[in-house]
Amino acid sequence: MRTQVAIIGGGPSGLLLSQLLNKAGIGTVVLERRTREYVLSRIRAGVLEWGTVELLRTAGAGDRMDREGIVHDGCYLSTAKGMFHVDFKKRVGKQVMIYGQTEVTRDLYDAQEALGATVIHEAEDVALHDVDGDAPYVTYTRDGQEYRIDCDYIAGCDGFHGVSRPTIPESIRTEYERVYPFGWLGILAETPPCADELIYANHPRGFALASMRNPNLTRYYIQVPLTDKVEDWSDDAFWAELKARLPKEVAEGMVTGPSIEKSIAPLRSFVSEPMRWGRLFLCGDSAHIVPPTGAKGLNLAASDVHYLFEGLKAFYQAGDASGLDRYSEVALARVWKATRFSWWMTTSMHRFPDQSEFDQHIQESELEYLAGSAVAQAAMAENYVGLPFDE
Ligand code: FAD
Ligand code: DHB
Repeated sequence: MRTQVAIIGGGPSGLLLSQLLNKAGIGTVVLERRTREYVLSRIRAGVLEWGTVELLRTAGAGDRMDREGIVHDGCYLSTAKGMFHVDFKKRVGKQVMIYGQTEVTRDLYDAQEALGATVIHEAEDVALHDVDGDAPYVTYTRDGQEYRIDCDYIAGCDGFHGVSRPTIPESIRTEYERVYPFGWLGILAETPPCADELIYANHPRGFALASMRNPNLTRYYIQVPLTDKVEDWSDDAFWAELKARLPKEVAEGMVTGPSIEKSIAPLRSFVSEPMRWGRLFLCGDSAHIVPPTGAKGLNLAASDVHYLFEGLKAFYQAGDASGLDRYSEVALARVWKATRFSWWMTTSMHRFPDQSEFDQHIQESELEYLAGSAVAQAAMAENYVGLPFDE
């Protein structure tokens, strides 16, 4: 088989890239290791930056999001001194959309199907070949048979544990990493949200986040030690701990119920440079991971896709390769800014096991400053709603 762009990974970045390219008349094949049902069963991000919203609309996959998504003007931050609101709309004139990654992925699969795009599931042993030459190709097996796809370019959209990043020789790659000494225990429950917008809570017992998916579906997280296991946490224990970390008035009004999903995610910051090697371009989690505190992971995947799509479009439609040549540099500039913001929100909002009294005072004054400064709130808002896509 031959295609123009072979895309490894059928998560949000691979599907969004494929959708945009197909709409622009550029041929793709998406190779996904898992089944569609498995991909759709992963509960992950919930907040879309406006740039992501607009990209989904451009891709022709935004109709249900526009009908069912919930637009938020800001969020709440809860501290020992009380709760305050950061109004993104007032501070920087932008909002965010509450719409789950599961729904984004489902809409992209449907849109791909409507276009007749090729998405191959259960592709095993995917391998990338001659990536630094002029005739790259990808091989995989399915149902015990081996296949080969020749292509012009390969997009590595296969997440942190994928095969694309390790294809780049170690001598070319530089990896930067910070692993945080705690995880997030998250649950999904069919209950109404406890507040009109998200609440990020800094509490002596640890961080907590009250989020939502729709008027009868809530997503809550609490910081837990890395040694904790999901089985250690009954629903009752989770709700009790969550309530202890949220403001009293919120906890009192909270509706609880059985969890329909419960999982623990470790927190890390990770960036691998460069994001291009020869004819391979890395996109999304295959190149970088942020801790979830700033809701940036999925949105960063979308901005990578934006830059790569524009680069490929200019190449195929006008013979202009300059966007592809600048892809790594331009994408990484935005990646590092989101990495900084996610690190800042994570360090400001969590209790660290080795936090000294000095560290504690710095953290409290950081949040006190944010509570009282319109300028600090504007800086937070500008990053939370998403920095512009630089051209
Ligand atoms: P992925 O979603 O990882 O998709 C990669 C795809 O490639 C997968 O479908 C995978 O099956 C496939 N693949 C992997 N290896 C191969 C291979 N060898 N061959 C073929 N296919 C392959 N972000 C937030 O903003 N908020 C959150 O609350 C949040 N929670 C998260 C919780 C967890 C447990 C994780 C792992 C991430 C979370 N994220 C969150 C981050 C966000 O979900 C990711 O940034 C986003 O999914 C990145 O999309 P992606 O398409 O680049 O990668
Ligand atoms: C959600 C996850 C986040 O990491 C975040 O910052 C906000 C919301 C969520 O899953 O809803």
